[in-house]
Amino acid sequence: MGRKAIITGVSHWVPEQVLTNKDLEKMVDTTDEWITTRTGIKERRILGPGKGSSYMGVKAAQRLLKERGISAEELDLIIVATVTPDTMFPNNACRIQHELGAKNAWGFDLNAACSGFIFALSTASQFIESGKHNKVLVVGTDKMSAITDYTDRTTCVLFGDAAACVLLEPGEEEGYGVLDFVNYCDGSGKDYLYLLGGGSLYPASHETVDKKMHYLFQDGKTVFKAAVQMMADVSVEILERNRLTGKDIAYFIPHQANYRIIDAAARRMGVDSDKVVVNIDRYGNTTAATIPMGLSEIYHDGKLKKGDYIVMAAFGAGYTWGSALVRWAI
Ligand code: UT7
Repeated sequence: MGRKAIITGVSHWVPEQVLTNKDLEKMVDTTDEWITTRTGIKERRILGPGKGSSYMGVKAAQRLLKERGISAEELDLIIVATVTPDTMFPNNACRIQHELGAKNAWGFDLNAACSGFIFALSTASQFIESGKHNKVLVVGTDKMSAITDYTDRTTCVLFGDAAACVLLEPGEEEGYGVLDFVNYCDGSGKDYLYLLGGGSLYPASHETVDKKMHYLFQDGKTVFKAAVQMMADVSVEILERNRLTGKDIAYFIPHQANYRIIDAAARRMGVDSDKVVVNIDRYGNTTAATIPMGLSEIYHDGKLKKGDYIVMAAFGAGYTWGSALVRWAI
């Protein structure tokens, strides 16, 4: 067996400002009851003006480095999953690299929306397995409040701001670490979840601002149907091809877009509800941050044991979707 990437550190950071369903009742025509029953969300965090998503990524990474007891200079590579980078360019990886003082690391951003963390983890694991690198930081950070229209009740209740990250290093023992991943994309989903303005197709103009093209748009019902199907399929697929069942899994960490999607995937896998990591009630959908944040919470709660099998799964804009199988190694 070749060398595998193990997760040796995990951390998250959220801003202090809380936006509750009750607050949203005062902003748009909605109710706490509607949001809770349709999505499972009770509150989310908001970063506020003057700071971008890289700020949250730096905070999460600094905590990770401290807990792992290593300096930023030891990092070889930083991969940042985000759809809300501070700027079109330079990328968030350079900003985070600079703020951390990770002067020996290179890095890049990866845009796969809500599947960003799974795609980034898959990518990062290859740099460890190949022997090319020994310390790869994978950050998921999104300031969704920056691209959310707080007059649109169909989207503004869903999203929040957060960052989380993991550190990958080579493992010594066989059978531990990032054991497998299954990723997909299908660009026919591009018409149902998108942000059109500010790219090269629709550069910023008075018209793009007037037409609210700098906010995200979602056809919720269409995306919901695809998400329920694909996230469950890809979660079952990774179990089957590794000859595991839902009963073998210590934790299922799904992307947090809607509690009903999470529940459907867990049922299809045969994973008991107490093994499903859910924090959507407190943070909403934080896009690339949801999965590492769930991992960080159970890690810091002392729930993970060496040898635990963890399945992570996501579905998002593109469409993109994927799953990863990790055996906890520390
Ligand atoms: O993370 C990336 C992937 N994204 C997802 O996986 C999200 C997938 N989609 C969803 O989670 C759900 O579709 C939503 C939570 C976005 C919406 O839930 P839904 O059960 O699909 O509701 P709906 O869009 O079918 O809307 C039902 C009704 C509509 O009213 P009518 O047409 O039945 O009169 C909406 O206008 O609920 C209305 N509605 C609301 N009512 C109160 C929509 N948003 C709200 C709201 N408060 N915030």
